[in-house]
Amino acid sequence: MQIESKLYELEKRKEKISHGGGMKAIEKQKAMGKLTARERIIALLDADSFHEYDIFVEHDAHDFGMQNKELPGDGVIIGTGSICGVPVAIFAQDFTVAGGSLGLMHARKISKIMDYALNMRMPLIGINDSGGARIQEGVNALAGYGEIFFRNTLSSGVIPQISVILGPCAGGAVYSPALTDFVFVVDNISKMFITGPEVIKTVLGEEISQEELGGARVHSEITGNAHFFATSEEECFVQIRKLISTIPANNTEKAPLIETAEPKPEYDINQVVPGDPTIPYDVRNVIKSLTDDSDFIEVMELFAGNIVVGFGRIEGETVGFVANQPIVMAGVLDCDSSDKAARFIRYCDAFNIPIVTLEDLPGYLPGVDQEHAGVIRHGAKLLYAYSEATVPKITVILRKAYGGGYIAMGSRHLRADFVFAWPGAEIAVMGPEGAANIIFRKEIMEAENPEETRKAKIQEYKEKFANPYVAAAKGYIDSVIAPEETRRFVAHALSVAKHKTVLRPTKKHGIPPF
Ligand code: HXC
Repeated sequence: MQIESKLYELEKRKEKISHGGGMKAIEKQKAMGKLTARERIIALLDADSFHEYDIFVEHDAHDFGMQNKELPGDGVIIGTGSICGVPVAIFAQDFTVAGGSLGLMHARKISKIMDYALNMRMPLIGINDSGGARIQEGVNALAGYGEIFFRNTLSSGVIPQISVILGPCAGGAVYSPALTDFVFVVDNISKMFITGPEVIKTVLGEEISQEELGGARVHSEITGNAHFFATSEEECFVQIRKLISTIPANNTEKAPLIETAEPKPEYDINQVVPGDPTIPYDVRNVIKSLTDDSDFIEVMELFAGNIVVGFGRIEGETVGFVANQPIVMAGVLDCDSSDKAARFIRYCDAFNIPIVTLEDLPGYLPGVDQEHAGVIRHGAKLLYAYSEATVPKITVILRKAYGGGYIAMGSRHLRADFVFAWPGAEIAVMGPEGAANIIFRKEIMEAENPEETRKAKIQEYKEKFANPYVAAAKGYIDSVIAPEETRRFVAHALSVAKHKTVLRPTKKHGIPPF
């Protein structure tokens, strides 16, 4: 056979496979407002960068009529390409082929690209759109999931792992995304649950839609399983590209430095935080008053809003921000906000990203609900994450730093490298009102004018403790700085901490309060 005819045969074979499950299935996919697997990869990666592998893989199922079925690519596309010039590995499940269900060869393809990503130390992106374990393949499908979960765990903390939920992700399949670092969801398209509406109806007799059970909003606002929410696939791909260009490609690298731009003038730090400590403000504006070009990539924006986490750059260098949010529940710590911040801190620590903490909180949220939900266990995660982290840690106390919150939010005692406080900072065991009511209770009760005495005692406590100078006198904070000096102090701290090296006791691993 001449080479031309061999090339013709190759083209024909590729052409056939490129249509996935056929025009009817593609039309159904489009009718659901979804792109095809191939279109998604092309839209996400740099133009002409995608190289596909294992295109001719065939399924290996023999039961339930499967021996006569053709499943192009076995329902998943794998390959490598780049995003903003950064090499990435990617797989995309093709729902048009047997519902993107996962059989043995489908799983082997995903495992292969996961191995490439890990061995070559590049980010892995998995686009999930699947009916789950291929029912006809029985235990082979389950084995396939196990292989994927193991690789997710092995890669954790070595390469960034990104999951994109662009269709159903049901049953045990949800655990691969749950083991990865960032989960992206799209409104009306993402559906994630362990047991679907059918099972719930059968077992519990309750009717619920897929959307209500595990739609994009549910996972962004309620469960905390999703980290980025978008209203369209296109918006989602823009978010992923931005994230990839901000974080390091693996745990031995730093994020690429980019040219410095000053924060935008509309984020004037002196205007952002009101002088009156009882008036709340949006801490995201403080972050934007510190970051280059006032750019901030917020992670888990819709979940546990009382803490804000995300990435920004200071003088070109990517840093992770952890900030109490006074406009949501006065910025208190609770179960969810502790979980959210602890996980983010561990991500930053694994990937050489310095942590900047902005502190302003009245303490932990009191109440039976929180106690019974395990605020002790969840709150401990935050202490653990800060203590464990060895990347540069810089803390700025903006206003309140009370009680356990003072310790938990990246204090000197958990080994922050630099702690700065603004002149209006209040660092104390508890708020002046509560403190005065407890320690001067008798005096207040017995006074001729209890209300006046209470006020006087609150003032006395405030003057004595609710300021930054008691902590500064002990060296617990390094400097009391004016708000407008914050960016300069943080940037300097980052520059001197560039080669930070600390040694910790040798151990296999710690036992964090999971
Ligand atoms: C084999 C499957 C499949 C599956 C879908 N298909 N899921 N084939 N195994 N798990 C096939 C359908 O038979 C159909 O084939 C095609 O994919 C499209 O599916 P539809 O049902 O027509 O699509 P739609 O109406 O959009 O519904 C999508 C769906 C539904 C909600 C995902 O297909 C569904 O409920 N699938 C089963 C989900 C599930 O229970 N999976 C197993 C979970 S257990 P044809 O040939 O008609 O086009 C699990 C264990 C993993 O995953 C454990 C790991 C630890």
